[in-house]
Amino acid sequence: MNRPIVLKIGGSIITDKSSAVPKALPGTIERIAKEVAGASVSNPLILVHGAGSFGHSLAKQFKLKEQFDAKGLIETHRSVKSLNAMVVDALVSAGVPALPVHPLSCAMLKQGRISDMQTAPIYEMLNRGLVPVLHGDVAMDSMRGADILSGDQIVPYVARKMGAERIGIGSNIDGVLDNEGQNIPVVTPATFDGIRKYIGGSSHTDVTGGMLGKVQELVELAGMSGISSRIFDASAAGSITRFLQGETMGTLIQKNK
Ligand code: IPE
Repeated sequence: MNRPIVLKIGGSIITDKSSAVPKALPGTIERIAKEVAGASVSNPLILVHGAGSFGHSLAKQFKLKEQFDAKGLIETHRSVKSLNAMVVDALVSAGVPALPVHPLSCAMLKQGRISDMQTAPIYEMLNRGLVPVLHGDVAMDSMRGADILSGDQIVPYVARKMGAERIGIGSNIDGVLDNEGQNIPVVTPATFDGIRKYIGGSSHTDVTGGMLGKVQELVELAGMSGISSRIFDASAAGSITRFLQGETMGTLIQKNK
């Protein structure tokens, strides 16, 4: 089996993240599904999508980062699961052999970090040509009871465990920008400290850290395992196709030269 590509689609792309109630963007979900279906790549694909307005507002409302709340846990999972069903349905309709994988059911956290995750089913799905679709979720935590599990944490974990070839993070901005709003084409562990001051959080309700959290995890991954990531603007038509085909776009995060 070729090494997989791990692609995350941010919640800001597939939902209206500024909405206080869950609001999906079905046209965009359909466009992305068609681009995935049409891409001609020989690598197996693991998809991860964010929660957007299906997760962050509920997590905040029930203070899930501060306290254990059974009702909040249940409601938030039900909500992100419904978004996942829309994504999987759109993929299947477009001809992609997609299956849902809910992190709540296969990941264990300790103080908010993944301590264990069952990836054997994902491996076997890839082996059979299927496309697992994971998502930002709530998950059980051995210290806190439960916590939020961002897709941004799932991506590097799964990429490392599955020996991914490369990672894509489809966001709503064109990669990492400097203080003048210009794209920074390449970030490495050696250059990260000098640019971290430019990198902001999220413009909307986001309980999982926004852009800085994403970049930090990916820089660490590149340094540790050499797996490179590309953060790109996934709101533009054709962007998913371009990423999958390996085009230069957004910001590439890679190990030190
Ligand atoms: C957040 O997931 C999960 C919950 C709030 C339950 P992500 O961090 O992956 O979501 P986005 O991409 O920021 O929307």
